[in-house]
Amino acid sequence: MTRRRVAILISGRGSNMASLIEAARAPDFPAEIALVLSNRPDAAGLERAKAAGIAALAIDHKAFPDRESFDRALDAALGEHDIAFICLAGFMRVLTDGFVERWSGRMINIHPSLLPLYRGTQTHRRALEDGVLVHGCTVHFVVPELDAGPIISQAAVPVVPGDTQESLAARVVVQEHRLYPQALRMICDGTARLENGRVVFSRRWDASGALHSPG
Ligand code: GAR
Repeated sequence: MTRRRVAILISGRGSNMASLIEAARAPDFPAEIALVLSNRPDAAGLERAKAAGIAALAIDHKAFPDRESFDRALDAALGEHDIAFICLAGFMRVLTDGFVERWSGRMINIHPSLLPLYRGTQTHRRALEDGVLVHGCTVHFVVPELDAGPIISQAAVPVVPGDTQESLAARVVVQEHRLYPQALRMICDGTARLENGRVVFSRRWDASGALHSPG
């Protein structure tokens, strides 16, 4: 088995990053986390990555005059580390179309909603305001339009009376930590790939059952 070299891009605490690092410890995992990059030098996730023995770099976007030059610096670091796939994990910086096109089919993102609902920020607040009873998270290929890329996998959670943004976020993030390693596995072993703007899966799965909320 070839282990694909993966970079994780973060801006904050890096709990999804940690779940990917943990999953990649398994000998049969088809990816190796070769690099963690943050656009914020103070991102707590950088220390977590270093503690796990992974190369961790800050490329401070504030040190660059524009998005293009920042993205070129990212590309250079990714090239130096011979990276095959990128996982965005709480990376809160919009990438240029050129960068996204270069990494087309090789860059994925985790988003805290059931896309295409609630693109952008404040997803949990907006879900609570709308009174939806099912919420969740999505892993998708990255395309130039924000949070609009082809969907690889989703997990749903119930929304319960009395939920706050915090309680809902906590319920969703538990599922993020399960979903993201699974999705990375699928793109690295070829189970899911991007073809003509759609995700093509090389296996079938059990389609019985449904989540009911209230259960
Ligand atoms: C996660 O909930 C992730 O889904 C979200 O940021 C959080 C990062 O937490 N990403 C986005 O909102 C991207 N638009 P983490 O740093 O602990 O992984």
